Amino acid sequence: MNEMINMAKEVFLPTYAQFPIVLSKGDKVHVTDSEGNSYIDMVAGIAVNSLGYNDSQFTDALKEVIENGLLHCSNLYYNRYAVEAASYLKELSGMDKVFFCNSGTEANEGALKLARKYGKSFPVVREKIITMESSFHGRTYGAMSATGQIKYQKSFTPLVPKIVHSPLNDFESLADKVGDDTCAIFIEVIQGEGGIKCADPVFLSKVRKLCDEKEILLVFDEVQCGMGRTGKAFAWQNTDVVPDVMTLAKALGNGVPIGAMVVSSKASDVFSPGDHAATFGGNLLSCTAACVVLKRISEGALLEHVVAVGAYFKDQLEQLAQTHDVIKEVRGLGLMLGLELTCEVRPVIDMCMKEGMLIVGAGANVLRFVPPLIIEKEDVDEVISILSSVLGKI
Ligand SMILES: Cc1ncc(COP(=O)(O)O)c(C=O)c1O
Repeated sequence: MNEMINMAKEVFLPTYAQFPIVLSKGDKVHVTDSEGNSYIDMVAGIAVNSLGYNDSQFTDALKEVIENGLLHCSNLYYNRYAVEAASYLKELSGMDKVFFCNSGTEANEGALKLARKYGKSFPVVREKIITMESSFHGRTYGAMSATGQIKYQKSFTPLVPKIVHSPLNDFESLADKVGDDTCAIFIEVIQGEGGIKCADPVFLSKVRKLCDEKEILLVFDEVQCGMGRTGKAFAWQNTDVVPDVMTLAKALGNGVPIGAMVVSSKASDVFSPGDHAATFGGNLLSCTAACVVLKRISEGALLEHVVAVGAYFKDQLEQLAQTHDVIKEVRGLGLMLGLELTCEVRPVIDMCMKEGMLIVGAGANVLRFVPPLIIEKEDVDEVISILSSVLGKI
């Protein structure tokens, strides 16, 4: 294992602070490292591996498309998997049209471009885009500029202009920033990287009303909170608010890279041929993966499971908070949960790993729980027992 880690240090740009284990296998909610140590996985590749490891339907579908010999054909031609995946997304969201790409940041780049082009349809061009403080939208220039956290931006200025940030859940402050120059507002229904912070449904309703009055596009970034993680296909379906545009990635492909921008009829004629493209977007391999995930979500049982196990998990975390003063707050919905601590989470994460659990932070003080959606109550019990032991030592 050490040899591999040393080799990694020789060959990778130092963009990641990696943990010193080499993962090699997975089964359901457990992963195994190259020395045979097993870990219960609260990370799931950062909210990606929603069907868990070694799902037989997923493996069989990928095998089939590989055996057919055609993984990619470009968007010069149609392929049935992309059409099927887009149809599932339409059905699940009630929205109108889909654009496939490869990642969350790229889905948000698409939405930013769509918003700016939409802004040009007005007699006085609208260019301002408002996003939320402590949001995270990705690492490419547009998405990074949309991100409401200086730490991701400060080394890379100048940023894309005319993107401003407003505090989440503060409607007055947002309304003050909205003008005749505003084309879009971007919101994560639950902020992931920003610390598992939920948008208040009343705030979202007010924003929806304002967007309707001012003809502003409401864009929901569902890259992390979508795809069944909250117990609904998309997190906004827990509210009475429907976006004009939503962006997806992460769990959409259960580990095969894919992103999507889904657009309602209000904005589905903004782009014309040539406005936007992605070579790999919608290829047969990634869309086969998406079809398996979306079919599973459509069937309903997985979502019911997320609601039941998510409620149990949150309840167990709240009980843990009663006996551990280091826990400040329990937050989140479904299987997107956060534990805000009174201390830094990094030592806790390291200790959890030693006790057989993978977990990731969301900011300096929040432990983030985004496990495979197939997690069972007894797995939750295992997590709580490890946490209780680790937090007891803090
Ligand atoms: C809400 C949200 N949007 C966008 C992104 C960027 O996605 P990707 O890393 O696939 O580019 C992330 C990644 O964590 C995210 O959580």
